Amino acid sequence: MAEKWTPDTWRRRPIQQVPTYPDADHLARVEGQLRNYPPLVFAGEARRLKASLAQVAAGKAFLMQGGDCAESFAEFHPNNIRDTYRILLQMAIVLIFGGAFPVVKVSRMGGQFAKPRSADNEIIDGVTLPSYRGDMINGAEFTKDSRTPDPARMVQAYNQSASTLNLLRAFSQGGYADLHKVHQWNLGFVAGSPQGARYQDLANRLDETLSFMEACGITSETTPQIRETDFFTSHEALLLNYEQALTRVDSTTGDWYDCSAHMLWIGERTRQVDGAHVEFLRGVGNPIGFKAGPNLSADDLLRLLDLLNPANEPGRITVITRMGAEQIQHRLPTLIRAVRREGRAVVWCCDPMHANTVTTASGYKTRSFDRIMAEVNGFFAVHKDEGTHAGGVHFELTGQDVTECMGGAQAITEARLADRYHTFCDPRLNASQALELAFQIAAALKDERAQARAVAAGGRR
Ligand code: PEP
Ligand code: CO
Repeated sequence: MAEKWTPDTWRRRPIQQVPTYPDADHLARVEGQLRNYPPLVFAGEARRLKASLAQVAAGKAFLMQGGDCAESFAEFHPNNIRDTYRILLQMAIVLIFGGAFPVVKVSRMGGQFAKPRSADNEIIDGVTLPSYRGDMINGAEFTKDSRTPDPARMVQAYNQSASTLNLLRAFSQGGYADLHKVHQWNLGFVAGSPQGARYQDLANRLDETLSFMEACGITSETTPQIRETDFFTSHEALLLNYEQALTRVDSTTGDWYDCSAHMLWIGERTRQVDGAHVEFLRGVGNPIGFKAGPNLSADDLLRLLDLLNPANEPGRITVITRMGAEQIQHRLPTLIRAVRREGRAVVWCCDPMHANTVTTASGYKTRSFDRIMAEVNGFFAVHKDEGTHAGGVHFELTGQDVTECMGGAQAITEARLADRYHTFCDPRLNASQALELAFQIAAALKDERAQARAVAAGGRR
């Protein structure tokens, strides 16, 4: 029997990736302050996302999760939020239209401020300072002042998350996401690219469909699904002081929910079965994800499922695999078979970003479009072989015209990375590369659907 859970039982477990705050009283004061702030999301919304993810687990929908590697205070601007939001909408439309499948949209926005690091310290020219851990914890600038963890940053992250969420809700329900606006979502620099032209073609076909539906009496006025969309938020639950402060009892069920986002995930570096992060997340009712790197054993995967989802509730767990283009075909089948053998319900989601990162000779951290696509293709191929549902994808992307990942139709070369390399953290797909991926994934989804239909037809005979 697991010990009784409370929002602070994680504090008695071994913990990885924690900042050292020099002033414990200041930290406690900020935690107290955040405990009195309004929740950012409601438990009912988190349950709605869980129900949508249960549809994904059952093979009836597809999860698309994406956004920045890390949000930053410096890049906080409504245009940035809008541009990321609309590339996510465009990708979703491509997937829905191409795959003929409902798509569950989950952003890495409105709370993605804390980053795990491979080393606690960074040394530059003989000077040792704490590593940058995300704007919620310390500053990126290499000075003692900026790198010292400051609890007040949690309040700024909360405030930025609140206004980001406010805008995302307004976009989703206030008319911006109306399907009649599909043409307007084509971003300036994407519009002139081959992906933009392809998207325009799809948008024209969607227009025709909408006109037909309108003639049948199905309009934005009669059908909210045309006018509005569900849009959910997620981030890595890394800084548990912040997560605990936003964890509240839901008055309708009496259960605890982490109200900092609809969905939270546990990173590759903090998913130890006896560790603090697993302990914290096992007690909240939100849908939960965890990263599954190439070294996760089937036994550990099952242990995590036992701890985080003892009731085997569908939609509760998303396993976000990030194995690398070379490893996915060897590693994933073992995990899928173990989960199937034990009858566990999970959403399988592919993060093709985090195990495909390389550093160039000139020092740029980058990822190649081809390797990203190779991991996605490997993910679909394994699920096809195993007869399971390739449930979703998880991307780091931005609506801006950055040059951080190499390749794609724009053929970004190593030499061009320097042109617009803006990331504070990992290299992101730009909107054109993201759209290109969406078209390729839509084709893979269509293929999976055709196979499922063929199997169903065979079974009926
Ligand atoms: C991330 O998603 O930004 C991340 C750090 O991933 P991982 O935990 O898989 O390395
Ligand atoms: Co990242």
